[in-house]
Amino acid sequence: MKKELIYSGKAKDLYSSEDENLIVSVYKDQATMLNGARKEAIVGKGALTNQISSLIFQRLAHAGVATHFVKQLSDREQMNQKVDIIPLEVVLRNVSAGSFAKRFGMEEGEPLEQPIIEFYYKSDELDDPFINDDHIRLLKIANQEEISYLKSETYRINELLKDWFSQVGLNLIDFKLEFGKDRDGKIILADEFSPDNCRLWDENGNHLDKDVFRRNLGSLTDVYKMVLEKLKELD
Ligand code: TMP
Repeated sequence: MKKELIYSGKAKDLYSSEDENLIVSVYKDQATMLNGARKEAIVGKGALTNQISSLIFQRLAHAGVATHFVKQLSDREQMNQKVDIIPLEVVLRNVSAGSFAKRFGMEEGEPLEQPIIEFYYKSDELDDPFINDDHIRLLKIANQEEISYLKSETYRINELLKDWFSQVGLNLIDFKLEFGKDRDGKIILADEFSPDNCRLWDENGNHLDKDVFRRNLGSLTDVYKMVLEKLKELD
């Protein structure tokens, strides 16, 4: 099924397959932060992020969101449509936390009056800088229509995810999405959705996401297992 390694990322390796429109994503047993400056092997993590992301992408597809997800192949592998990734990290925030709280001198945990979207330019050399709509158009990363689509899809995905997580007692604080263009140039949701790229707090404010690794709060796989078990409770 897997042919050649085409990209090795911090959380996943991507392989070509026999079908030129499909790739195999292999989720790694590894956690990184600070653009890879801290890196740790974490046995069992890849299987958890793969399962959580597969479950979420299936639900999103069912709700009418166009995604790259094709099927889960094994514990750590999934099949995806091949896309040209749009080099933007699309971050949506429901509650102040992380770099947002720091930047604006706010306490973490303050609900925002309305969800806000931030863009970051995906560039390891530049350390993923904050970027606005004007920059995105100037750098020809996306045109206005595409930017508007990225925003409206992200707001829509937020409403779906917030609802699902709240049904299992979790508060979706913020998250990061990536989109890509398929062979017809259509923009579809790509990458992954797991506690690696979102913040989830339980009713007591406990962190059930990668902040457990970033802030040394305990076992990452234990909390990812809890998230997966909770998501499995959804109808
Ligand atoms: P931040 O508060 O550090 O800016 O992160 C906001 C959200 O985006 C949080 O859920 C983590 C996620 N995120 C990523 O998935 N990848 C990244 O490179 C960054 C900076 C954030």
